[in-house]
Amino acid sequence: MYRSVFKPGLFKDQLTIVTGGGSGIGRCTAHELAALGATVALVGRDPDKLARVREEIAAVGGVAQAWPCNIRDEAAVQALVAAIVAEHGRIDGLVNNAGGQFPAPLKDISLKGWEAVLQTNLTGGFLMARECLNQAMQARGGAVVNIVADMWGGMPNMGHSGAARAGMVNFTETAAFEWAQYGVRVNAVAPGYVASSGMDAYPPSMKQTIQAFPQTVPLKRFGTEAEISAAIVFLLSEAAAFITGTTLRVDGGRPNVRPGMPMPALRNPSVPFDGFHLAQTPKVLGGD
Ligand code: ADE
Repeated sequence: MYRSVFKPGLFKDQLTIVTGGGSGIGRCTAHELAALGATVALVGRDPDKLARVREEIAAVGGVAQAWPCNIRDEAAVQALVAAIVAEHGRIDGLVNNAGGQFPAPLKDISLKGWEAVLQTNLTGGFLMARECLNQAMQARGGAVVNIVADMWGGMPNMGHSGAARAGMVNFTETAAFEWAQYGVRVNAVAPGYVASSGMDAYPPSMKQTIQAFPQTVPLKRFGTEAEISAAIVFLLSEAAAFITGTTLRVDGGRPNVRPGMPMPALRNPSVPFDGFHLAQTPKVLGGD
């Protein structure tokens, strides 16, 4: 069972949707929410991945369901949310985590590639949130957490993703204002460099760059999937009842590094939190 720092039963009787729930941070968050009593609706494009995570969660006594869906498809998102509401009568939480991009400098990104990344990382999140609001949360409240990225100051070789994530931060702020009247809180989590299966999408030529990332972080290490999940769970929970419109950075202080300012050596290394006994080390960091 997932070792969460939050109290057992925190999400009892609640239905939470996690997009991109078939792998990485989404999978980890689904495990944590299920361990805390939520029923988790796993959304993603790959039915096999979703089924595997559903089985993993069932094997440790949790409840999850697989809901394959392409979040770029407006009609499919509308039908998905309608089906979840028809079955459960409620949606308490939405974790807008599905994402995807490919490394490329701006000058080489085609219109098709640009639009694909914007659709997945910005438009898809908007569609999921809008439908959850209109079909469920408007009536009884809820919480949305949008997963973005550490894109402050630009995102070299990921300009499409950086633009989409920055857009999602602004969407978070507008939705927080417009939806507060319904008792719906909208926040974002911005992970920094996290040792997650998503890293394996980078080409082998970037291996050395990726392995050097921790040297650019004041806490001098990668984050764990569980450290991102904990922030998401906090923002979904009643502990965050007065928090809306914020973006919580979970990045070991990376954006606080200043050019020319030497980075002090670590005297007391921070201990990574890994409540997720099923975490996979990405191949680029030596996993199999
Ligand atoms: N994960 C990555 N891209 C996705 C998409 N278009 N729909 C659902 N999950 C996704």
